[in-house]
Amino acid sequence: MADGTHDTKSSNQMWGGRFASGPDAIMEEINASIGFDKKLFAQDIRGSIAHATMLAHQGIIAQEDKTKIVEGLEAIQTEIESGNFEFSRRLEDIHMNVEARLAALIGPAAGRLHTARSRNDQVAVDFRLWVKEELQRTERALTGLIEAFLDRAEEHADTVMPGFTHMQTAQPVTFGHHCMAYVEMFGRDRQRVRHAIEHLDQNPLGAAALAGTGFPIDRHMTARALGFREPTRNSIDTVSDRDFALEFLAVAAIAATHLSRLAEEIVIWSTSQFGFIRLSDAFSTGSSIMPQKKNPDAAELVRAKTGRINGSLVALLTVMKGLPLAYSKDMQEDKEQVFDAAESLELAIAAMTGMMRDMTIRADRMKAAAGSGYSTATDLADWLVREAGLPFRDAHHVTGRAVALAESKGCELADLSLEELQAIHPDVKAGIFDVLTVEASVASRKSFGGTAPAQVREQIAWWRTAL
Ligand code: ARG
Repeated sequence: MADGTHDTKSSNQMWGGRFASGPDAIMEEINASIGFDKKLFAQDIRGSIAHATMLAHQGIIAQEDKTKIVEGLEAIQTEIESGNFEFSRRLEDIHMNVEARLAALIGPAAGRLHTARSRNDQVAVDFRLWVKEELQRTERALTGLIEAFLDRAEEHADTVMPGFTHMQTAQPVTFGHHCMAYVEMFGRDRQRVRHAIEHLDQNPLGAAALAGTGFPIDRHMTARALGFREPTRNSIDTVSDRDFALEFLAVAAIAATHLSRLAEEIVIWSTSQFGFIRLSDAFSTGSSIMPQKKNPDAAELVRAKTGRINGSLVALLTVMKGLPLAYSKDMQEDKEQVFDAAESLELAIAAMTGMMRDMTIRADRMKAAAGSGYSTATDLADWLVREAGLPFRDAHHVTGRAVALAESKGCELADLSLEELQAIHPDVKAGIFDVLTVEASVASRKSFGGTAPAQVREQIAWWRTAL
């Protein structure tokens, strides 16, 4: 204003640019969660129906009021599902949007719904229900991904490829065995998902604002109605706890980290230098300038989504850190992180399942690479231990000399002559050449969990029954 004072109801010149009416509008903008928590509408309505039914059963509200409330809530659900509901930011969040609409639909009876309840236990119940359902979806998605790996592993139980450590050729393995490594990883993720469901399976409803309520409610009844194992045991903890959201994010971050390692391998395998796989057209893109290119964009994006999901975990950990008990509005920042991570994870798992099922495995390229880089050097050393009785350390040394000789000649170990090998150690016999092929190497590793095709098939069978 000209005299230097300002009207708090009108937009401030210095900082009110995009706000119509000064601090009130800014307060509304920072306070409202309806923009994202409308995603919880079905859970909110379910929780309210369970609550109203229990209130009537306990004689806290009249049956007629309960009937009106339930009918009204069902009508609201239909309105929202058919896109005929007007969400209002003035009404802050999903809880107040639904309640205000209920009042408009059924009148004063609507005011009885919030008896013995607070938005603090309401949001806890809505969000727990949502996270539980999301975890169940995640479990199904992971099962689908594991099945895709089992199918590829079965198909390629005998397909030899180089195994790597330090990204250097180490020993030959089979592609089936490599696939089964991912089955173990995603299997652990699935286990973590199940544990997370078990941990969150308690009903927050009835904790009210933080101290419980003087009304004779039945929290076991609402627990049953909402499909929770039991009610939570401490009302203060109930409204201040977001472990279930953190645990979802932690589980998601570990699964995403696994997906990113697979994504990285797919990127490497699909290069012309490696050429181990060919991605299907469905999961790759071309270049706008280089006609020869086929880019593994989906794998790269899965690799990148991990950054988002890990970021969400750190964001919510940081929001919760140092919060005094019980509820604080800080906790409203929980939802966007979880929603975003859930969407990213679902998409990443779906993309990987599709890519794994669709990709062409180039067994010839894998096999050629498996034999290079002296990958059967350990087999040569093992032969010297087994057949010539050398201590492993000595055998390691002798083998090192054989590798050095082959390297200087620019050939593979199997290309050295018997005389050349005997010059390095006199006890070498012709039989040594039998273990220098990649097939023999792989077949010999029959230890439990090893890469021998027979072992891999056993592990596949175990997983098929475990699933
Ligand atoms: N929108 C809020 C949230 O997401 C709901 C709980 C609000 N409770 C309160 N006392 N203001 O956390």
